[in-house]
Amino acid sequence: MPATVIVGAQWGDEGKGKIVDLLAQDSDLVCRYQGGPNAGHTIVVGEETYRIRQIPSGIIRGKACAIGAGCVVDPDVLIAEIDDLEARGHRTEGLVFVSGNAHLIMPWHVALDGARERRLGRLQIGTTRRGIGPAYADKATRIGIRVQDLLDPKILREKIELAVAEKNVWLERVYEIEPFDAQEVLAASLVHAARIAPWVADTSLLVDRALRDGRRVLFEGGQGTLLDLDHGTYPFVTSSSPIAAGAAVSFGIGPRRIDEVLGVAKAYVTRVGEGPFPSEIVGPDHDRVQSLGHEFGTVTGRERRCGWLDLVALRFAVRVNGITSLALTKLDVLSDFSELPVCVRYRLPDDTETEDFPAHQSDFHHCRPVFEVLPGWGAHVEDELPDAARAYVAFVEQALDVPVTLVGTGAAREHVLALQDDPLGL
Ligand code: IMP
Repeated sequence: MPATVIVGAQWGDEGKGKIVDLLAQDSDLVCRYQGGPNAGHTIVVGEETYRIRQIPSGIIRGKACAIGAGCVVDPDVLIAEIDDLEARGHRTEGLVFVSGNAHLIMPWHVALDGARERRLGRLQIGTTRRGIGPAYADKATRIGIRVQDLLDPKILREKIELAVAEKNVWLERVYEIEPFDAQEVLAASLVHAARIAPWVADTSLLVDRALRDGRRVLFEGGQGTLLDLDHGTYPFVTSSSPIAAGAAVSFGIGPRRIDEVLGVAKAYVTRVGEGPFPSEIVGPDHDRVQSLGHEFGTVTGRERRCGWLDLVALRFAVRVNGITSLALTKLDVLSDFSELPVCVRYRLPDDTETEDFPAHQSDFHHCRPVFEVLPGWGAHVEDELPDAARAYVAFVEQALDVPVTLVGTGAAREHVLALQDDPLGL
């Protein structure tokens, strides 16, 4: 498996961190390809819990880790994460590579993210308020500040002064909040520059060389398919491309260099933030799933909305990512239920039914789920899957025509069952 993408197949929080952690053992380079500190990967190792937001989770395994050009980097978060890892006994020196083309999340991005959400009121997107959208917007407008700008104090000063002059107008006149002082921001950025400079790298070349040398490269997605800016449930999406193709774009490699795409989906569905959610559970089972699954956000602590497994949305994820195998996480959370509804089709406003994800937003906003009810297994899932759990997994495989090769059965690192000798299904 020279180049494998691990992609979230739902609305994020599918448990990708744990799967990356598992596969990172056999990888040489782990790459984060989009997003920034809006992602939150939780990895439990013995008594230790790691919550990683900016660096690829492979760092916990002592692997070389790269942050691609398609990412946005909050320097404070990145530096604090590295310091925390070092303090907990992990070596990071020589292992961290950050694309010089990645964009920096500046303090005004965070301020604007919060101010816009407050202004939108009940129409808000429910962002993580980490400055993600405003940073990507500036990238597209071409007034963003990139990681490589940190290497040249003169360019850095010019760009900060230009950005502050414009942002302060918005902050003060539109949102009526405090402006920024360019010199203070510059001083803080120069401190960041001193720390980050040794990590700046040509990550396209790094990946290309690794692949040419026959090394194994793992691309770790953040967020999930339905949060993709182009293909997700716009406008309730993030501002980047979490889908698998985003890995090639972010790292500047041709799409044919990617060999495998492992989709990660929960055995049910969760979503943070606003937006339609057809299989959302109504009634007391909602809170049961939420509390059994500890469904509270890693980054924001917000409650996650919970739904039954949605095969229409998952079929869409298989299609847009080219998923070659699936990891179904948190199957153990469903052990308490005697019956398990699975959404197999959507009923559209015109009363027709479809197995395919609606291309038109109004169909998606107004569709209703059609459930098939599968029997629960009523037993703790540990080393082996009970028959009904096996049948649940087989139902998913048959509906999607993709093998489920890994199943998550608990929070700890070792709580993953490989259903095939080769979890990538090669
Ligand atoms: P943003 O990425 O902070 O701009 O937030 C946009 C939308 O994506 C909101 O609905 C967030 O809750 C959601 N989102 C962003 N990152 C994640 C994640 O890592 N997991 C789940 N949802 C996320």
